[in-house]
Amino acid sequence: MAEKKRKKEISTASRLSVAPMMDWTDRHCRYLHRLMSRHALLYTEMVTAPALVRGGAVHLLAFSPEEHPVAVQLGGSEPAELAQATRLCVEAGYDEVNLNVGCPSDRVQSGAFGAVLMKSPDLVAECVTAMREAAGDVPVTVKCRIGVDDQEPREVLPAFIATMRAAGITRMSIHARKAWLEGLSPKENRDVPPLDYPLVHEMKHAFPDLHLSVNGGIGSLETVEDELGHMDGVMVGRAAYHQPYDILGEADRRIFGDTRAPLSREEVVLAMEDYIGRHVAAGGKLAQVTRHMLGLFAGQPGARRWKRVLSEGAHKDGAGFGLVREALPR
Ligand SMILES: Cc1cc2nc3c(=O)[nH]c(=O)nc-3n(C[C@H](O)[C@H](O)[C@H](O)COP(=O)(O)O)c2cc1C
Repeated sequence: MAEKKRKKEISTASRLSVAPMMDWTDRHCRYLHRLMSRHALLYTEMVTAPALVRGGAVHLLAFSPEEHPVAVQLGGSEPAELAQATRLCVEAGYDEVNLNVGCPSDRVQSGAFGAVLMKSPDLVAECVTAMREAAGDVPVTVKCRIGVDDQEPREVLPAFIATMRAAGITRMSIHARKAWLEGLSPKENRDVPPLDYPLVHEMKHAFPDLHLSVNGGIGSLETVEDELGHMDGVMVGRAAYHQPYDILGEADRRIFGDTRAPLSREEVVLAMEDYIGRHVAAGGKLAQVTRHMLGLFAGQPGARRWKRVLSEGAHKDGAGFGLVREALPR
């Protein structure tokens, strides 16, 4: 019963999720995003299984209780190691464990994981089977591309999803473009290969029993709403980072039917005071938190000054919440 409830809650949350983004969706960023939406599912940066299991880097899993519902993304391709990493993630209290089958960075390829795994669906199936056994009632999900290199997405994507379903996966996010493993930088791989939304929509028809989210190039809450006409969920990356309020500020009302009034941009800033105070008191730098807040006033009066004051002052010794107040648009 408890398991069913938890799965239902998290699949509701994944109607809108903020994508895993290395160096961006750290715990400070997620704490900020949560102030704007109580419901959206937030993903961590990718954490590699070798770092956790061989490197003992469990500190990478720390998060604040306010961040729930929060999903951790793992990178890896060795089933036993991924199982061990999954156990650590479950112990840390994550609501979901996601496997990265979409990230094309060189570092990730050299460890034989990320998008290159689109070429080895059976290995991915072994990985997720091991992860599911380790996860107990915590859901295991997969984030993938529509294909890599010279693969034909219309052939490989349905075959890949079918293999995942056979391995017990019930929820996936699909970045609606291929990754080119050679010749394009990770950044180019997020822009250059064309988006194929119709193919991803077709997957929802082909696999009506799975919870499928579309990802890639979605830049407004209107588009999120449109995509929810086709898909179970929408995952937003860069737009949610650069203009968090535009994506998350109205999300609870419009996507999740929550009737409570959202915090205003300024209220979001003021609600960071205690968090920032604790971070700075513990020896952290103001800029480690405020770098994720720079886009909060995107498109609003005072946005440039807000960014400038924070960018110039937040890395300085002794900088604290007073600087944030000073930067606020007035
Ligand atoms: C800075 C940055 C870091 C990223 N790191 C990851 C990652 O760790 N794992 C992953 O699966 N995708 C990663 N991605 C890809 C995003 O999750 C997402 O799939 C991609 O940006 C497309 O969505 P968008 O157009 O909404 O940004 C990253 C993207 C960016 C911009």
